[in-house]
Amino acid sequence: MKEKLEQIKVDAEEEIKNVKDENALNNVKSKYMGKKSAFNEIMASMGSLSPEEKREVGSKSNEVRSFLQELFENKLTEIKNEELNKKLESDKIDITLPSKKRKSGTKHPLNIVREEIEDLFISMGYDVVDGPEIDTDANCFELLNLPPSHPARDAQDSFYITEEMLLRPHTSAMQVRSMLANTEKKPFKLICPGKTYRRDDDDATHSHQFSQVEGLVVGEDISLSDLKGTLELFAKKMFGKDREIRFRASYFPFTEPSYEVDVSCFNCNKKGCSMCKGTGWIEILGCGMVHPTVLENCGFDHTKYQGFAFGVGIERVTMLKYGITNLKLLYQNDYRFLKNFDRKEM
Ligand code: DAH
Repeated sequence: MKEKLEQIKVDAEEEIKNVKDENALNNVKSKYMGKKSAFNEIMASMGSLSPEEKREVGSKSNEVRSFLQELFENKLTEIKNEELNKKLESDKIDITLPSKKRKSGTKHPLNIVREEIEDLFISMGYDVVDGPEIDTDANCFELLNLPPSHPARDAQDSFYITEEMLLRPHTSAMQVRSMLANTEKKPFKLICPGKTYRRDDDDATHSHQFSQVEGLVVGEDISLSDLKGTLELFAKKMFGKDREIRFRASYFPFTEPSYEVDVSCFNCNKKGCSMCKGTGWIEILGCGMVHPTVLENCGFDHTKYQGFAFGVGIERVTMLKYGITNLKLLYQNDYRFLKNFDRKEM
């Protein structure tokens, strides 16, 4: 029996060498230590031995059992370690590899320009206000002194939703809203950037949706020179410190007097080029002194208060500033175009 036990040790040790995984190891374990194993049979037959033999075989079988147990335990640890190493190997991250460059979005040129305008006016103490894109006929036209016969009130020119509601055709509607909302009728300065809508056919210079910044200052002793100084700063900030501006008499129902403002051509410096159509000047905005009727319509005493207002197209400023010749580029969101405005890459 002792020889048999010794043989079990040898056989088990030999067989276990080729075991590669835990499953196979369990099979070998049950073959050598399980109920139907040769080892177990020897243990079961011990009862028939003499006390002398029992002691000898008993101590040998204890030795073999511990040997087998240790053998299987060590093999199990070995298998587990190997599995772990394989996993670590396959999960390995090479931190020295260059990363894949992720394309990140860029600020849209219209937003760059809008924010630049906002920053300038905030620095001069203006509030920046926001208003609804759907507004009433009264706010868009009537209270702004636009007579019923004015072409802008024609259903052909604006997007009417009902008889009384429309998509605002200009941010000037915010002049009315902000004056009416000013219940204490106190002086104020604000700009309102936002989207505007007109029934235009889209082409290189027209879009049914575009954006404007409205400016409105109401107070005592506000004069045309305040307006001129403000717009001069604006032109220099947007188009360069050497720019000059000039006022041309114009007509808007909500201002009196009204002007269109030109900036000296930043391409040729007034010499005349294709950009300024040979005139040396480029039109950038409309403005004027707030019409007394508009002040009164909105509850401001026109004998005490004056105001100036201006409206500038953000697309127009953006196109001039960056030399963009087709308005559509500003709406197509083509990454190849937009990435030119990535300040990290500029
Ligand atoms: N609302 C005018 C437009 O869309 C622009 C404008 C002109 C705004 C004169 C003003 C202004 O505030 O005073 O064409």
